[in-house]
Amino acid sequence: MQSKKRYLVTSALPYANGPLHIGHLAGAYLSADVYVRYLRLLGKDVVWVCGSDEHGAAITVKAMKEGLTPREIIDKYDAMFRKAFDGMGIAFDIFHRTSEPIHYQTSQDFFRRLHQNGEFEVIENEQYFDEEKQQFLADRYIIGTCPVCSNPDAYGDQCEKCGSSLSPNDLKPPIRSTLSASNPVKKPTKHWFLKLDKYEGWLRRWITEGELENENDPKIVTKTHNPADWKNHVMGQCKSWLDGGLQPRAMTRDLDWGIPVPPEIDETGSKKLYVWLDAPIGYISATKQWAIDKGQPELWKDYWQKDDTALIHFIGKDNIVFHCLIFPALLREHGDYVLPVNVPANQFMNLEGRKISTSKNWAVWVHEYLEEFEGKQDVLRYNMIKNMPELQDSEFTWKRFQESNNNELVGNLANFINRVLVLTTKNFDGKIPAIADGVTVASSDNAAEKVAPSVELAKLQAGLERLGDFIEKFDFRNALQTLMDISTHGNQFLQFNEPWKTIKTDRNAAAAALNIGMQIVAALAVASQPFLPFTSARLVKMLNIKDLQNGDWASMMEKLRNGEPLITEGSTLGEAEHLFTRIADEVIDAQIKKLEMTDNQTTGGSQQAAVEEVETTPQYAPLADTITYDDFAKMDIRTGTVLTAEKMPKSDKLLKLSIDLGFETRTILSGIAKHFTPEEMVGKQVVVLANLAPRKMMGIESNGMVLMAENAEGKLGLVAPPEGWQNGCVVK
Ligand code: MF3
Ligand code: ZN
Repeated sequence: MQSKKRYLVTSALPYANGPLHIGHLAGAYLSADVYVRYLRLLGKDVVWVCGSDEHGAAITVKAMKEGLTPREIIDKYDAMFRKAFDGMGIAFDIFHRTSEPIHYQTSQDFFRRLHQNGEFEVIENEQYFDEEKQQFLADRYIIGTCPVCSNPDAYGDQCEKCGSSLSPNDLKPPIRSTLSASNPVKKPTKHWFLKLDKYEGWLRRWITEGELENENDPKIVTKTHNPADWKNHVMGQCKSWLDGGLQPRAMTRDLDWGIPVPPEIDETGSKKLYVWLDAPIGYISATKQWAIDKGQPELWKDYWQKDDTALIHFIGKDNIVFHCLIFPALLREHGDYVLPVNVPANQFMNLEGRKISTSKNWAVWVHEYLEEFEGKQDVLRYNMIKNMPELQDSEFTWKRFQESNNNELVGNLANFINRVLVLTTKNFDGKIPAIADGVTVASSDNAAEKVAPSVELAKLQAGLERLGDFIEKFDFRNALQTLMDISTHGNQFLQFNEPWKTIKTDRNAAAAALNIGMQIVAALAVASQPFLPFTSARLVKMLNIKDLQNGDWASMMEKLRNGEPLITEGSTLGEAEHLFTRIADEVIDAQIKKLEMTDNQTTGGSQQAAVEEVETTPQYAPLADTITYDDFAKMDIRTGTVLTAEKMPKSDKLLKLSIDLGFETRTILSGIAKHFTPEEMVGKQVVVLANLAPRKMMGIESNGMVLMAENAEGKLGLVAPPEGWQNGCVVK
């Protein structure tokens, strides 16, 4: 854990140009929410800021599309954001707006100071101009041919087909304007450029070594962070920008909509601040407003200016360069600001095999989810955290959403909690049973082993410690898995102790088992809070424990360390409620239909579009845990040929194959009937895992496994040995 005195956590300000979708949640918001909730449970001093990003072409393009003014657009989507975040339990300390006067003032002052410090270079260059509209064209307003993939409709800032980030001069002809039918011409214009090239040296040392030289005395070096704590993909992007050489970057634009460059600096009165200058400064003005609302207007300075603050930016991967290079450069060159200690950027979450796309309406919208799945916020939160794109892109599918709800939340978590509560209510009159002196319980690891109840409390403590460690490393997926492991362990503990049986033969044993069961439930009530805050609140009510009402991680850990119970003997339980319920197939089918329908409306119903996108944005299964060479060497993999193949009666999945491995012929059942007909299989050369333990399925023993490759659409293809190779060769 950062040993800093206070935390300032930021989440990327979303552009107020469309509703919130699950990709947003999975990127910069749920991750930060888990982290901040955990810090709060630890009693840390933390402020978490966010707000609407209301300038830039993102807004004006949308306004044109909807036939509204930019002001109407930002008001509309800002209001939607607030409702959606609130509905999902995403609880910022402040959600601000970059259209607020305090933000105008803060960013103009910031610009002034940089100007006074001599950090800008005024450069005149040629930019595309629309003569009919008499205006310079923002990057987004220029269309041309992508130099990377030849897409003729690439924008001046990005090609949406191949994802390359571009600048207008990269585009190949024909160049067009989105504002009118006239051909853009080049005209000279003047802008204020940040001398990013000048900062390359300290930026590199700071990011890659975690060291900052004092500006007045280079011999004084401050340690800022441990570079090993930064995610690989974040560090990798930073290095590749640095290695490519940083160029001066324009901090102003010719636009109607935006924050004016301070009038004493821009004599033309027409220049606006670059949105990527104004937006991150939005974090500062949000903190100022938070301090004002708190009645301590100077308090924001502690969070931005004191070295014992840990500043952490939660963002999506497309924002890395701005938060790791440009904004830190601005902060340091301005002076008086801390730099981030970490930028745990997430990658992207895809939806049902395709990139989420607002314009194509390929998304799950948070406001719609909240209406259609009332009271099920935690189910979505669970699913998002479980699939959080922390290190690589991930995918949301409705089927997996249903499965994880039904199997994990209902089948594991709710089931465990419910069993403990019901058994306690029924047999001990709704009061936490006492543990008699000297009584033992079956170990949760081994039914045959008897242990003192305190041994189980120690295991619980260890699990919670692990969970906390994961959160501190921004590894929220494993943290959530650890929470579920505790519940799995709880179920196992109940299963081994069978209090429903022992209650008739050995009341003390049943009492001890249920007491420990209740301690696990109480720990889950606290530990689930960062992930599943709605469930946690319900649980705290059901448990009726005052101490836990506000949740306090530190005191819970302290109690476990001292072998003290979290919930005391004799205390009375509240009323039990259902925590999670099964989600039926119809509900999921309806969601999938809905996606398909919106897709039909926007793409004219072509299946082709879906296929194309899958091809250009392949999905990769996450890499499995590292194994040693010895692990690998245990596998005996051989070449073989399929001699016969037949469908297994009563199974639509299995084919029964006999395979010649050279030294013997094997019977192998393979779950490929949906992919291959028996006729197709006969005579095929295959690769077989030959020393897999035999397994009986539908009365027949299968002796090995045929290896297949699975693609993004779940299609299977045979892994084949080189043509003509004999059977029984070792694959290694
Ligand atoms: N609005 C930007 C986006 O959605 C993010 C801005 S983050 C900030 O990509 F730092 F600039 F605020
Ligand atoms: Zn392209």
